[in-house]
Amino acid sequence: MPVDKSFAVEAQGQKLSVIETTRAVPGTAKDAVRTSGPSASLPLGQILSGDCIAAMRTLPDNSVDCVFADPPYNLQLGGDLDRPDGSRVDAVTDDWDRFDSFRVYDEFTRGWLSEARRVLKPDGSLWVIGSYHNIYRVGASLQDLGFWILNDIVWRKTNPMPNFKGTRFTNAHETLIWASMGEKARYHFNYRAMKTLNDELQMRSDWVLPICSGGERLKEESGRKAHPTQKPEALLYRVLLATTERGDVVLDPFFGTGTTGAVAKRLGRQWIGCEREENYRNVAHKRIERELALDESALTTMQSRKSAPRVAFGTLVETGLIAPGTKVFDKKRRWCAIVRADGSLECAGSDRKQIGSIHSLGKDLQGAPSCNGWTFWHYENGGEVKPVDAARELYRLANED
Ligand SMILES: C[S@@+](CC[C@H](N)C(=O)[O-])C[C@H]1O[C@@H](n2cnc3c(N)ncnc32)[C@H](O)[C@@H]1O
Repeated sequence: MPVDKSFAVEAQGQKLSVIETTRAVPGTAKDAVRTSGPSASLPLGQILSGDCIAAMRTLPDNSVDCVFADPPYNLQLGGDLDRPDGSRVDAVTDDWDRFDSFRVYDEFTRGWLSEARRVLKPDGSLWVIGSYHNIYRVGASLQDLGFWILNDIVWRKTNPMPNFKGTRFTNAHETLIWASMGEKARYHFNYRAMKTLNDELQMRSDWVLPICSGGERLKEESGRKAHPTQKPEALLYRVLLATTERGDVVLDPFFGTGTTGAVAKRLGRQWIGCEREENYRNVAHKRIERELALDESALTTMQSRKSAPRVAFGTLVETGLIAPGTKVFDKKRRWCAIVRADGSLECAGSDRKQIGSIHSLGKDLQGAPSCNGWTFWHYENGGEVKPVDAARELYRLANED
């Protein structure tokens, strides 16, 4: 496979404005760390030309938060493919997708994956998308290098290309591997935001999304597709929203038309691309320049309870949201207790008083190994019965920045 060994950071004026518009959103602790860390020397908002392995070698260790890679699929297509009406299928036959053998493809895969691993931070995420032609080989290589697979996502296409010859099943999906840096490595997952995005149901590993078409599909002046494998923005939107935060640095070693950069810019993430073909770099630059970053308020996502600020039950008592003397009870009203001034509960049983925190008293009364007092205890508010957790939510809402 011909590999362009030259490497150069593009020096077009238009990129400078891109860098400006994709700067980290200031004001969060994470961003504050980044501006003084390795990201200060990163070519943010730039597309590195030449071979991605050589390009990635110029980036510092532990400097990016997420790598999204859509590598050559090594499609091994045998001859041209025509539709039943005689028109030619616009298949991927480009040089960048040609490898002499599986061995050569595997060496290439290990090369770029090793660089991705070096530049990723210890809590970073790796995403690779592929088809049956390559994803199993990529999956084995990344495991060999120490990455830990967290999920394989099946992107089911609502509008796949038919199997024109009728010799196999319609190939209607692609696979995305999401991996952390190792079995014990920390990683970032915006569980709550994903659940909200999915109508309050846990987001599943099968994503049903259309292929890139209509106005989103970039075209040359002649009307031909600008790139044979442009990915849908919705796919990148979900990936970046799920596993990165505002201001995070996302690297895409196979940038193509810059789908990753465009969505990253929209979502307030920083991006770096690598792309060996000049015409794709030009298409990507223009596309990202057109893209508008979302307003900061639109970018605030639902937080998981774990990351919500801690509120002690006593704070609700102090602030009068659940005043001392309030009667609390479990949902089936088997037990009831009185809230005391220090936030403890007192339950007057038939033979003896029991006292404890919302959690420990709930646990003792039920004889259970543990109890989440926030959802166990209820109170009456304006004629309605609510878990005490509802008062905690009210407190958080009233005290949001
Ligand atoms: C599958 S396409 C990515 C398409 C992209 N995700 C998009 O939405 O437009 C792979 C891209 O990687 C580029 N490429 C292939 N081998 C490369 C290499 N060794 N270094 C840099 N870019 C490479 C190709 O030119 C092609 O644009």
